[in-house]
Amino acid sequence: MIEAILPGTVAAVETSDDPPGAVLYPEEEPFVARAVDKRRREFTAGRWCARQALVRLGRPAVPIPSSPDRQPQWPPGVVGSITHCAGYRAAALAHDRDLHTIGIDAEPHGALPDGVLRAVALPDEQDRLARLSADEPGVHWDRLLFSAKESVFKAWYPLARRWLGFEDADLVLDPASDRFTARILIPGPDVAGQPLRGFDGRWLVRDGLVVTAVTLPR
Ligand SMILES: CC(C)(COP(=O)(O)OP(=O)(O)OC[C@H]1O[C@@H](n2cnc3c(N)ncnc32)[C@H](O)[C@@H]1OP(=O)(O)O)[C@@H](O)C(=O)NCCC(=O)NCCS
Repeated sequence: MIEAILPGTVAAVETSDDPPGAVLYPEEEPFVARAVDKRRREFTAGRWCARQALVRLGRPAVPIPSSPDRQPQWPPGVVGSITHCAGYRAAALAHDRDLHTIGIDAEPHGALPDGVLRAVALPDEQDRLARLSADEPGVHWDRLLFSAKESVFKAWYPLARRWLGFEDADLVLDPASDRFTARILIPGPDVAGQPLRGFDGRWLVRDGLVVTAVTLPR
């Protein structure tokens, strides 16, 4: 389903369960050596999706270590992103000649726990969400905003290599197009000679999930 909200240059692979044949390379084992079973399974399935996507890009299915900051270390020439939540794992990869960066995120399509929205949404975002909820109560807009912000973070981080807080981006969701824009409120890195000021993203609500994706084309 995530393919539907990504450009054609992206190789996206997803699964709703843990593929029985999924295994880690020895280079990846240390990152989950002391992890609980759930974490090990989601990490392994994410790597499985990412390797299938590498092959679709015409690249070998190599190990994908994690950096100390937790971002996946993609082979040279590749950008990508991984997400996992209950019942869903996905990876989306592209050649860096096509995209500067990708961020994807999946969440169960349910309301955020009490109090979380205030912590992750700016006052203006909360006002806009209240209007969206009144107009279209069938969508959990709070969860959708949260997921979109996680996608923004995953796209931002490989370019900026520094933290982006929930208060550092102002997102506008457009229900007419199922697209969003993110205005970055802190100084960004230069990308192709221009300061990075924001991202465009898309979303999809289907099969009990919210999926969001951000890409920055070259
Ligand atoms: C890092 C973070 C975005 C991950 O999101 P999540 O919903 O907890 O988990 P997901 O399963 O969707 O994604 C986890 C994957 O994100 C990727 N990831 C983790 N840190 C990353 C980083 N710094 N940069 C890029 N990708 C990263 C990894 O691939 C990870 O999976 P893996 O460890 O199995 O490889 C989240 O934990 C976080 O720290 N959020 C706070 C920052 C933020 O979202 N700011 C909002 C800015 S508007």
